[in-house]
Amino acid sequence: MNIMVIGSGGREHAIIKKIKESKQSTKIYVVPGNIGMAKEAICVDIDITNLENVVAFALNAKIDFAIVTPDNPLVQGMVDRLESAGICCFGPIQNAAILEGSKIFAKNLMQKYGIPTAKFATFTEIEKALEYITQLDTFPIVLKADGLALGKGVIIAKSKQEANTAIVEMMQDKIFGESGCKIVIEEFLSGQEVSVLTFTDGKTILPMISSMDFKRALDGDAGLNTGGMGTIAPNPYYTEEIAEYCMQHIFQPTVDAMLQEGRRFKGCLYFGLMITKNGPKVIEYNCRFGDPETQVILPLLKSDLLALLLHTANGTLENCTIEFSKQHACCVIMASKGYPQKYQVGYEIDIPQEVEENIYFAGVKEQEGKLVTNGGRVLGVIAVADNLQEAIEKSYEIVAKINFKEKYYRKDIGKKALNLEG
Ligand code: AMP
Ligand code: GLY
Repeated sequence: MNIMVIGSGGREHAIIKKIKESKQSTKIYVVPGNIGMAKEAICVDIDITNLENVVAFALNAKIDFAIVTPDNPLVQGMVDRLESAGICCFGPIQNAAILEGSKIFAKNLMQKYGIPTAKFATFTEIEKALEYITQLDTFPIVLKADGLALGKGVIIAKSKQEANTAIVEMMQDKIFGESGCKIVIEEFLSGQEVSVLTFTDGKTILPMISSMDFKRALDGDAGLNTGGMGTIAPNPYYTEEIAEYCMQHIFQPTVDAMLQEGRRFKGCLYFGLMITKNGPKVIEYNCRFGDPETQVILPLLKSDLLALLLHTANGTLENCTIEFSKQHACCVIMASKGYPQKYQVGYEIDIPQEVEENIYFAGVKEQEGKLVTNGGRVLGVIAVADNLQEAIEKSYEIVAKINFKEKYYRKDIGKKALNLEG
C-alpha cells in the first residue's frame, strides 16, 4: 500500500513509526517530512499549502491512502481536494475541520447541543467587545481569536485593563492576523487539563488513552504558551468515571451534532478538556492528532494503527475495538533555546545510536552530511515504563545523552502528576 503522510513534526514521525509496525506492507511518503524520518519514509519536498501540487504528487506516486495531520491544510480543505481526485484520506473535510478552524463555530455548536463548555460571548466589532468588558467584574477572563493562530490565539486577561489591551491588540493591531478580527470572550475555568484524542468516522467514536500536555515554555507552567514542551500518558486526573461522563455528555454528542449539522467528522477529533469542580468542560476542539500528545499515545497503542486509520476513513469503525498497554509514557521535547520566540538553528545534533528508537524528530535537517537543528521544537524523547516515575526518569536519562548547542527542555515534565498516579 502506498501511503502519504502530510506534515513534518514529531507527531508525523510517531504515526509513521507506528504504521511501520502494521502487518500490512507499506511504502510511506511524507510531505515534506524531515531528514530524521528518512529511515522509515521517503521525504518529498512540496509546500503543503500548495494543494494542487500535493494532489498532483499523490496521483503521480499512486497513493492509496493519505493521512493529513496539520491544522492548516485540513482547514484549507486538503482532504476535499485529495478525495475529489479519488484518493482515500484520513482527516476531516473542510466543513468538519471548522470545529478547530473557527472557535465561534465550536462554541455555538456546543451551546446549541448542550455540550458543557465555558460561558462565552462572541464579537466581530471592537466597540462591542470593549463595552462588554466594562460590565464585567470577575477576572481573569479568556480572550480567543476565532481562527487558527499557530496555537497562540488565546490571551488570559487578569484585569479589565489587560482585557482592554488584549482586545485592541487582537481586533485592531491584529497580532494574530485576520484570525483575531472576530473573537470569543469566555469564562476562565479552573481545574486540571486533560487531552483526549479519539478516532471517529462521524458516527462511532473510539477514545484513545488520555494524556497531559505541558504547554508552557518554563518549569512550573510558567512562561509563554508553546506548541507543547512535553506530555505524559495516561493522565491520572482522567478517571474511569470521568471518561464515562465525557463519552455520554461530550464525545458522542459532539459527533452526533456534527452529523446533524451536515458536517460529518471523520478523522482524529481531539478534545481539550478542563476537569472542573462542576465536571469536565470542553476548552477546545482540534480536528487532528495533537503534538506532542501523539508522541506518548501511539507508543502505548497495541491495536494496529493502520487498520484503525483505514476504518475511520472508510466509515467502518462500528465493530472496531482499541487496545492500549497498561504502561505509562513520557515525552520530553528538546527545543532550541529561545523557542517559542527567536532562536538560532543549524547546530549539529549528537545522538548515541542506542537511543535512536526513543526519538521522534521534528525541527531537524541535514547540513554537509550532518544532522543539525532546524526549528523550535527539535525532537521528542519518549520512554515507556511500568509506572510514570520510571517513564519520566528514563526519558530524562536519554535527554542527558543528546547534545546540541542551545538545547533547552523543561525539567519537570510529568512531575505534577506523580502524586496522583493510581
Ligand atoms: P486553546 O488554544 O483553546 O487550547 O487554549 C490554550 C490554553 O489556554 C489552554 O490549554 C488552557 O490552558 C488555556 N485556556 C483556554 N481556555 C481557557 C478557559 N476558558 N479557562 C482557563 N484556561 C483556558
Ligand atoms: N499539543 C496541543 C496541540 O497539538 O494543539
